[in-house]
Amino acid sequence: MAKVPVRFTLNGRETALFVDGGANLLDVLRRGAGDLSPKYGCGQGTCGTCTVLVDGEAHLSCLTLAEIIEGRSVSTVSGLSNGPDLHALQTCFMENFAAQCGYCTSGMLMAAKALLDTNPNPTRDEVIEAISGNLCRCTGYEPIIDAILLAAERGQGNRSPSYGSAR
Ligand code: FES
Ligand code: FES
Repeated sequence: MAKVPVRFTLNGRETALFVDGGANLLDVLRRGAGDLSPKYGCGQGTCGTCTVLVDGEAHLSCLTLAEIIEGRSVSTVSGLSNGPDLHALQTCFMENFAAQCGYCTSGMLMAAKALLDTNPNPTRDEVIEAISGNLCRCTGYEPIIDAILLAAERGQGNRSPSYGSAR
């Protein structure tokens, strides 16, 4: 299979890889870049656990052609915390018991970050809409929604690290 060179920024770091033509972004992040934080769930665009940000917008990385990230900025959960200092969304998820098995959590966090970066004071319905593509089989969603609203209340949207060129 032909290899294609791709250069992009991953959590603020310049990254250059050769990827298989037609490869999806989730595969390239996990196998190529060694970032295991985006999770593989369904591989079909239905669970949301592979959600990452591309130029600040939430994308399902399992359905995103890796070649389109050339020159763009990709953010994953690996880049959310600042060393040992957790991002406010992560802290609020912990405080609200919004992660149980944790399988959905990285996708939920990135969907939430995309929301709060563009809408720092969302309504409950806007939070529900923002995570509507992310499935959770454990929490019943309420703790997750509450955690995102708490992070918004604490003003995380304006203080969070941002690697997207759109902001
Ligand atoms: S693994 Fe991408 S949506 Fe499920
Ligand atoms: S915490 Fe288990 S799937 Fe959401």
